[in-house]
Amino acid sequence: MQVVIEKLVFGGDGFAKIDGKPIFVSKAVPGDELEVEVTEEKKNYYRARISKIIKPSPDRIQPACPYFENCGGCDHQNISYQNQLKYKDEIFQEVLDRAGVRTKLEKIIPSSNHPFFYRNSIRFFFILDKNKNISFARHSNQDDFLIVDSCMLQSETANKILVTLKSFINKNVLYKSSFWQLKIREGKRTGDVMIEIITTDKELPGQEGILKTLKTIKGVRSIYHTIAPGKSLLNLKRRLIFGSPIIYEKIGGFAFQISPESFFQTNSEGVKTLYDKIKEFANVKFGDKVVDLFCGTGTIGIYLSTLAKQVTGIEIEPVAVRDAIDNARINKVQNCKFICCDVSNLAIGQFSNCIWILDPPRAGLSKKIISDISHSNFDVLIYVSCDPSTFARDLKRFESRGVVTEKIQPIDMFPQSHHIESIGLLLKK
Ligand SMILES: C[S@@+](CC[C@H](N)C(=O)[O-])C[C@H]1O[C@@H](n2cnc3c(N)ncnc32)[C@H](O)[C@@H]1O
Repeated sequence: MQVVIEKLVFGGDGFAKIDGKPIFVSKAVPGDELEVEVTEEKKNYYRARISKIIKPSPDRIQPACPYFENCGGCDHQNISYQNQLKYKDEIFQEVLDRAGVRTKLEKIIPSSNHPFFYRNSIRFFFILDKNKNISFARHSNQDDFLIVDSCMLQSETANKILVTLKSFINKNVLYKSSFWQLKIREGKRTGDVMIEIITTDKELPGQEGILKTLKTIKGVRSIYHTIAPGKSLLNLKRRLIFGSPIIYEKIGGFAFQISPESFFQTNSEGVKTLYDKIKEFANVKFGDKVVDLFCGTGTIGIYLSTLAKQVTGIEIEPVAVRDAIDNARINKVQNCKFICCDVSNLAIGQFSNCIWILDPPRAGLSKKIISDISHSNFDVLIYVSCDPSTFARDLKRFESRGVVTEKIQPIDMFPQSHHIESIGLLLKK
């Protein structure tokens, strides 16, 4: 089948039509003339991959990473960073239009001068080949695994860990079938590195030698062995086998501790841009009360605490709440309290005349929370989202309950990928 790609859509694919039926083509660039192979046929659309580029788009560039064409991590490395920003503006506008959100969209803010090597957290899978050697893999763009020796999104340190660990295990460890995942987290501004090796068995094969080898890598402060029986992430048992249980990261003038269980924004430079913008939108004045829903390790609340009278953070993950409490202490902030609670069970009415910060996971907000907050008295509501589709849906739901979106500011926290972070400023009509 031959197609000409019309545009990019949210999710990363190029969009075209064949006899009026939409076709979504992975790793395509608007303007590409392509020969494509259909990988999935549904009633209303096709999915396809490129089998031949007949005529490349003028916007197509050579991707920097050798794994790009087959890797599920990056979507847009074949487009210059400037053009990625232009396309993300168009994609976001289309998502808002489809949801019927009429608010003016500000131009996306680039996250930093570093569109590569920006991630502070990444996960790899151990793959055992027929010669009983291990390799590392990422999810491919075809729902299977792609073996890689490096990734251009995290850091040279992470790549060094991959090469060192692979070489050590293949030379020295006999029993390898229990290795499942490797997770690396870094404090980009502190140089701290946390490594988590996940196995299906109780023992970490070759533990002593692995520790000796990994400890030689600069910055490694913390190593965990985590047991995941049956490759399930639900019942993880973590044991610290080297160093500190936590690592640190700095954002603006604040230091934050990170535990393996806690959520932490993945782009340490971009997050400063994000939090500065939240601060500008929230415009906290002396004596204001702030409620930080889905607060993770308390970072946004602490960032806004300087003028506030009181900041209350709500978070479901107990370890993140413990980190949040420690983070307030580390930063000598005394007006923040953190409550471990599912926001669905929160009595929203107890918080009146406050500034709401909502930063939910990708699924967005439940109708109940939207309804409860809309009916409460509040000054300003800041909605931070990492998914434009659920964000647009929720803005529309707020609008139908009398809460209107004043402005929307996207921020490019995830260069090379299709993801887009954004902030909405909402007020009562
Ligand atoms: C996108 S993260 C935001 C974290 C934080 N605001 C930050 O900037 O680092 C979403 C957070 O919501 C928490 N969470 C998810 N579901 C929740 C729920 N039902 N109630 C409370 N917290 C929840 C997650 O554990 C996670 O820490």
